[in-house]
Amino acid sequence: MSDQHPSADESLTARRSGPLRGEARAPGDKSISHRALILGGLAHGTTRIEGLLEGADVLATARAVEAFGARVARLGDGRWRVEGVGGFRQPSAVIDCGNSGTGVRLLMGAAAPFPIDAAFDGDASLRSRPMGRVIDPLSQLGARFESRDGRLPLISLADGRISGGVVVQTAPSAQVKSAVLLAGLNGSGVVRFVEDIPTRDHTERMLRAFGAIIDEVEEDGRRTLRIAGGQRLAGAAVVVPGDPSSAAFPLVAALLVPGSRVTVGNVLLNPLRTGLFETLREMGARLSVAHAREEGGEPVGDVTAEYGPLTGVTVPPDRAASMIDEYPILAAAAAFASGETVMRGIGELRVKESDRIALMARGLAACGADVAEEADGLVVRGSGGAVRGGARVETRGDHRIAMSHLVLGLAAEQPVTVDEPGMIATSFPTFVALMRSLGAAIEPA
Ligand code: S3P
Repeated sequence: MSDQHPSADESLTARRSGPLRGEARAPGDKSISHRALILGGLAHGTTRIEGLLEGADVLATARAVEAFGARVARLGDGRWRVEGVGGFRQPSAVIDCGNSGTGVRLLMGAAAPFPIDAAFDGDASLRSRPMGRVIDPLSQLGARFESRDGRLPLISLADGRISGGVVVQTAPSAQVKSAVLLAGLNGSGVVRFVEDIPTRDHTERMLRAFGAIIDEVEEDGRRTLRIAGGQRLAGAAVVVPGDPSSAAFPLVAALLVPGSRVTVGNVLLNPLRTGLFETLREMGARLSVAHAREEGGEPVGDVTAEYGPLTGVTVPPDRAASMIDEYPILAAAAAFASGETVMRGIGELRVKESDRIALMARGLAACGADVAEEADGLVVRGSGGAVRGGARVETRGDHRIAMSHLVLGLAAEQPVTVDEPGMIATSFPTFVALMRSLGAAIEPA
């Protein structure tokens, strides 16, 4: 096995480890990386990106942006250049977004206003995920799609147009919001998006950094984003901060493995992304932030986690959007806490890369934890100490299910093995090497 990453067909096992110690840098933020490439492709001129996440999901978006007519070049480690042509051109092949919901949904929005036929597809997991949540609002604005059942594969048709209109949020999804805003950018008229539950705002921030005007107004008492069509984006310099959704794994590992102290540098601390850190603090976690600063228009800081006891909490459902990808690792941490951790209002987890509620419930139970699955929630009754482990966990190719159980295995009594660890490369290609550098015992099974 390479030090970088396991191959797709071997399993990985995490064993009880000595104290985890040291400093690491999280890989670039996945959400911001996708957006930098897409906006670079839509813009006129050169976009330079530093710190791009070179995970499989983002690389699929880089290829897609190139297929839509931009010139995309890797200059070095995380350093990329995109030469945009001011819009998307007719691609000559199917746009394969791999495992990435963010990639396909944002690209569908970006492509919708242009007179091109674009066929989108993805892997088996992505083919099973709902695309109606993007097809419906974009169609309402005038786009046209050909899709059998609101799922991939689908075609965005050249005779669709984006004219003005209002879209009201139906799911707390930044992917849907972003698709609508990106469509509005190159449409005619004004597109409004009514967002009752705030979700990550990287698209809005980055559109502004590329020169677009996007207003946030209160209309009929509801927060509304407004974007006028026909705006010209100018290529920009983007510095991608570390991904808090990836930093979560080494940081939670440090909270669970006795004697640990780990610092992850340069972590994105946008308040719409930090719900996990807030929740862990409420559980009594020793988490601190140093060198809080602003970089590339986003707040960042160095986050340190130290081992200590955790107490179960009830996570407010209205915090879900700010930590939606972090519930799997929170559920793993909750298995060690004393008392109950209640996570409700998280039905969205059922339509991620896997049904994360079902798989976490199954995986934690297999590891000896006391967990109850609900229609839109999970309740974990923590042991207040040891968790047995000693299981082989089915991940259904979901990177975050795999990493969450490997972290659990580092603190469990018996080793935990995960299948399909190759999928970790979609978001965190350096996970195994980084965890080992901190002292984690993670090896091929
Ligand atoms: C993302 C939004 C979230 C998140 C995903 C990245 C984004 O999905 O789960 O990993 O970059 O906009 P939803 O918007 O569907 O909740």
